[in-house]
Amino acid sequence: MTVKELRKQFPGLDREVYGKPLIYLDNAATSQRCLGAIDAQADSAAHHNGNTHRSVYALAAEATRAYESARERVAKFIGASSPEEIVFTSGTTASINLVASSFGGKFIGPGDEIIIAESEHHSDIIPWQLLSERKGFKIVVLPVEDSGKLRVDALKGLINAKTKLVCVAQVSNVLGLINPLSEIISIAHSQGVPILVDGAQGVVHQKISVKDLDCDFYAFSGHKMYAATGIGVLYAKKAILEQMPPYMGGGEMIGDVSWEGSTYADVPYKFEAGTPNINSVPTFVPAINLLEDIWASETALEIAEIKKYVYDALSSDERIVLRGTTENLEEKVPLFSFSVKGVHHEDLALVLDKMGIAVRSGHMCAQPLMKRFGVTGMLRASFAPYNTLEEAKCFIRALDKAINMLA
Ligand SMILES: Cc1ncc(COP(=O)(O)O)c(C=O)c1O
Repeated sequence: MTVKELRKQFPGLDREVYGKPLIYLDNAATSQRCLGAIDAQADSAAHHNGNTHRSVYALAAEATRAYESARERVAKFIGASSPEEIVFTSGTTASINLVASSFGGKFIGPGDEIIIAESEHHSDIIPWQLLSERKGFKIVVLPVEDSGKLRVDALKGLINAKTKLVCVAQVSNVLGLINPLSEIISIAHSQGVPILVDGAQGVVHQKISVKDLDCDFYAFSGHKMYAATGIGVLYAKKAILEQMPPYMGGGEMIGDVSWEGSTYADVPYKFEAGTPNINSVPTFVPAINLLEDIWASETALEIAEIKKYVYDALSSDERIVLRGTTENLEEKVPLFSFSVKGVHHEDLALVLDKMGIAVRSGHMCAQPLMKRFGVTGMLRASFAPYNTLEEAKCFIRALDKAINMLA
């Protein structure tokens, strides 16, 4: 599959802004949605719109089949041991809040500690702060180096008998660095501490096997991997899920309900209260199929060249401070956050937008990391395999022009 062929799968790319062809470089915020996902959602809404798990008639059975097939496909995709380990949520944020409320509510108490990486997204910070206000445990920060690399060497020293969980992203949404999960997980596990991996930025860039990695929790969102918005996944080991109490109460998460007391459904259903996102969950299937095709076609695509070209251009420009640097680009996904000396990131983003280029500016939901680097925000360009090398070159030329205008 060539980039040209791949782009045909993404109608969102085929438009102009301000009379210029759109160059979409905010894939880390949300990727464009693939045709297969758009069609699957429309087909579900138009032809199979029954409520799942409730009724015996054909329409409802079809909706249930599509929903459960998606669970099986997701389980296979991330290498889970069984579909029972896949809980559907509304996204990474909801998945982490589920873990905080249910696992954290039961197993983390006063005097305990949890460790969170300094580079985490607010979605992996705030749920824990909210819980810590209620339960009185301490949050310990695993720091990053000036390059943005996680100080994995410090982890061992931070873990102690009070540590109940380690929370770390597979890939930081600011730095684009791939954290050494195997090493982190083996350090945590060697001291009996479970680990939650925020896979929001990682799942779309490389094949993962949660079983081989041996992580305890893995969270990700559909909309960052070419599927629909409003859907996400919490993977957790079955034995852990079984020990966790329900997060929300409501329809279809029950065993038996009576005024004397109620029992709950087996996993994963006890964590899926209420009507789920019936029409959107099936979009996981075509999105995953396409993602696997993309990985199989990587040499025909331009993404590896883009990564090297943009990294070299940004890191060699003296006006620019690039964060998330590494000597080995294998450790980085094509996501680049940077500051430009003397120019506000928001102004740059506005000028680039007028040139047809969509990039992210701001704190990127990682204010502690911004504070670590002494800035209030940065500019971020994040690329996907449907981006072309020509687009990357156009971005670098446009950035140069915008800096010259504003500096
Ligand atoms: C690393 C990371 N974690 C969590 C999230 C939250 O994802 P969502 O908004 O889909 O719940 C994001 C979104 O940008 C992210 O980049």
